[in-house]
Amino acid sequence: MYAKEETIRLQKATNELVKKASGSHLSSDSLNILKDVLRFHEYRYYILNDPLLADFEYDLLYKELEKIEKDDPKLVTADSPTQRVAKGLTKEFPTVQHLVPMLSLDNSYNAEDLIDFDRKAKELTELNEIEYCVEPKFDGGSISLIYENDLLTRGSTRGDGEAGEEVTTNIRQIHSLPLSAKFSAYGIEKIEIRGEVLINKSNFSKYNQQLMEEGFAPLANPRNAAAGTLRIKDPSEAAKRNLEAFVYHISYYKLLKGSKIPVELQTHSGALKMLWNLGFRSPEKEKKVFKGIQKVIDYCQDFETVRDDLPYEIDGMVIKVNDFGLQDRMGATSHHPRWAIAFKFKARQATTQLLNVEFQVGRTGAVTPVAKLQPVGIGGVTVSSISIHNEDYIEEKDLRIGDTVLIERAGDVIPQIVKSLPDVRTGHEKKIRFPKNCPACHSKLFKEQEEAVWRCVNIECPAQVVERIIHFVSKDAMDIRGLGEANVRKFFELGLLKDIPGIYSLNYNTIMGMEGFGEKSIDKLKSAIETSKKQPLNRLIYALGIRFVGETTAKTLAKTVHNLSELENMSQEELEQLEDIGPKVAGSIVHFFSNKNNTAILSQLQKEGLQFKNEKKASTQEGSLRGQTFLFTGTLSAMKRSEAEAIVEANGGQILGSVSAKLNYLVTGADAGSKLDKAKKINTIKIISEDEFLQMTSKK
Ligand code: IVH
Repeated sequence: MYAKEETIRLQKATNELVKKASGSHLSSDSLNILKDVLRFHEYRYYILNDPLLADFEYDLLYKELEKIEKDDPKLVTADSPTQRVAKGLTKEFPTVQHLVPMLSLDNSYNAEDLIDFDRKAKELTELNEIEYCVEPKFDGGSISLIYENDLLTRGSTRGDGEAGEEVTTNIRQIHSLPLSAKFSAYGIEKIEIRGEVLINKSNFSKYNQQLMEEGFAPLANPRNAAAGTLRIKDPSEAAKRNLEAFVYHISYYKLLKGSKIPVELQTHSGALKMLWNLGFRSPEKEKKVFKGIQKVIDYCQDFETVRDDLPYEIDGMVIKVNDFGLQDRMGATSHHPRWAIAFKFKARQATTQLLNVEFQVGRTGAVTPVAKLQPVGIGGVTVSSISIHNEDYIEEKDLRIGDTVLIERAGDVIPQIVKSLPDVRTGHEKKIRFPKNCPACHSKLFKEQEEAVWRCVNIECPAQVVERIIHFVSKDAMDIRGLGEANVRKFFELGLLKDIPGIYSLNYNTIMGMEGFGEKSIDKLKSAIETSKKQPLNRLIYALGIRFVGETTAKTLAKTVHNLSELENMSQEELEQLEDIGPKVAGSIVHFFSNKNNTAILSQLQKEGLQFKNEKKASTQEGSLRGQTFLFTGTLSAMKRSEAEAIVEANGGQILGSVSAKLNYLVTGADAGSKLDKAKKINTIKIISEDEFLQMTSKK
């Protein structure tokens, strides 16, 4: 898309703009180059996955463009990089007719099927050998895009193939789809393109993690997540899911008057190249062209071995006759083209019987139903039990004991039940009854309004205690090897371990006689427990298992305080002022520390000599900001808040969590709010701008 000279020119322009924008605002004279520069960096980031610009520099330039457009709204164009996320809710997704019906593909599952396909293709074309283009079969939601006069004018879902839903607002947010593309340079006035919308595996797992933390059921696979996201009515919510797109097919085009068909549109591989050159993410790098079917088969089989290494899901390969003239001659049935076939990889779905449901109590008291299944193999793993999350999920999927269920294991995703198959019910299936009392301690279960989860609120419930200990010793928490889940359960059942502090006063004489515990393993266990006392504060905070406090929040909390006891005394308001901590998380932290049981555990752990101090904070005593305390508020323009905080700490200063008399400097960015108001009332606090801060640290 961008030749070398163009890349150099835009990179130079970037440097100049960043330099200018760091001193003062850019004027509307820079509008066009500013848009070009931002589009170029979007391309580097979203298509090439090879950014040339730091996030905060991109944000700085993006904000300048927003400002120029805000000052003079006449300057806003439909393809401006600021015009991706729409404001307000989408009222409806009207049904729109595709210019050409979206057919699906015929499937093949092995080499013989492909040999058969090749034989028929040769018969139809009366050729001895055919050239094929082979590319991945992306496993997402299909979309259709229309560009007219170089602008994206419509995006829709597949629907029934004839007509789909118009979801342009959500499609515009996909950064791997350009809002404008120079089709006119190829003599094209209007074009309809097909592609696939995806969520990459890491964004999908982050999203599922978030759903589960909020008590919702995770989605079964990235395909459902991508297709579902296209229909979200709140564009800003859809934007959070970070959709991506590949485009792989041109279904229609109209040439500009007097133009001839460009050479690129003689073959499929040429079309992929044209799309790539226009700034789309087509499978230009992944596709290969072969003469004859054997090499096609080899490539498909090789690709299956790297399937799990890709950042996104694919469920097979697509083999297309490369020459468009031949494609036209071969035509289509009412369902699929005769010139293409999908080669499907090994299925990751299977059907099995739902035998029973057990209810497990987690460390926060949440009661989770777990479906026990007739063991079944999927993709090399035997699955015999699957979480079915909560009552609503059971209801929504209409799951019953005795049902035949379709299950799926998508890549690294934990297996999920996709659906039950009511058509094969015998009439002997039983409704799943949710218990009213905790299966472990029998106390009454509670469900908060707006929550999907039933909870046991007895803090001493043995099932919760044992889960909390398991979490405490786990790899990402205190990492006490040798005291894994199985041993914690065993010691707990035998009464050798009653609570978290009990880990540090285990009776090794009793353990010594137990099966699997010799002198060596006891020594190892002892030393792992001893070493855990030195784990840094953020791990200890995470290990406590406070609801909603994951590893990132634990790090934020740890770097805010000098000592764990400071955290005990922080108010809801003070906590809410920390980065990424909202009312829900803050409330949960306050609730945790207000419980006497928890504070008693903490003081026992302190006596055992665990690391309650924030060592890093104590050790950064050198530097120009030594002894000074800082707090940032509002939006910083030249850097992220975390970067600014790192500068303070690197210079020996400290970051405070809230405005108080202990604070020396409040650094204010744009739209500073309540912290600034509060700081103004304490006259020992110096209120400074971001620029002044940068001068102090001489980073400017
Ligand atoms: S070509 C007329 N190429 O698979 C042929 N389809 O079961 C148009 N798909 O509905 C389709 N990757 O959503 C084509 N590289 C690829 C594809 C692909 C995924 C999807 C597409 C289609 C379905 C067919």
